[in-house]
Amino acid sequence: MFQTARPDPALPKAEAYRDLLSQAEGLFHGETDAIANAANLSALIYHGLPELNWAGFYLLREGGELVLGPFQGKPACIRIPLGRGVCGTAAERRESVLVPDVHAFPGHIACDAASNSEIVVPIVGADGKLIAVLDLDSPKKARFTAEDEAGCVKLGEILSGAL
Ligand code: SME
Repeated sequence: MFQTARPDPALPKAEAYRDLLSQAEGLFHGETDAIANAANLSALIYHGLPELNWAGFYLLREGGELVLGPFQGKPACIRIPLGRGVCGTAAERRESVLVPDVHAFPGHIACDAASNSEIVVPIVGADGKLIAVLDLDSPKKARFTAEDEAGCVKLGEILSGAL
């Protein structure tokens, strides 16, 4: 049985991500199934980080469209073209996008009315090609900082190495 402690908002973010990274390495050990590893990572993040209402992946599919992948949270929109919304913007630019207030982001795609801030981080393969994006939503405005970006980039790297 996998045990996660209750997420503590007072825990320094760097420490929270260190814990997540080591748990992810343990979960991925000896497993290369992309869906299984992405599903476990979304659960790990959702239950391991405080103040989230959605955590999951959009996978890049043929034709340059993002399609909903493993996630935790409420059902979400399924297909996002590159360049659309926060996810499509991060995917198109191949760079992280931090949105302190989703209501002020032009073209934001609202999936859960509880979301007020968001971070989307691209995940690239060893060949430098985009595989997916990691998307985290929070009910708290400005929930995500450069520390979250650094942590999410590392989590994405671990996932990309486990596919
Ligand atoms: N808000 C995202 C859509 C995905 S949901 O947040 C899960 C966007 O604007 O791309």
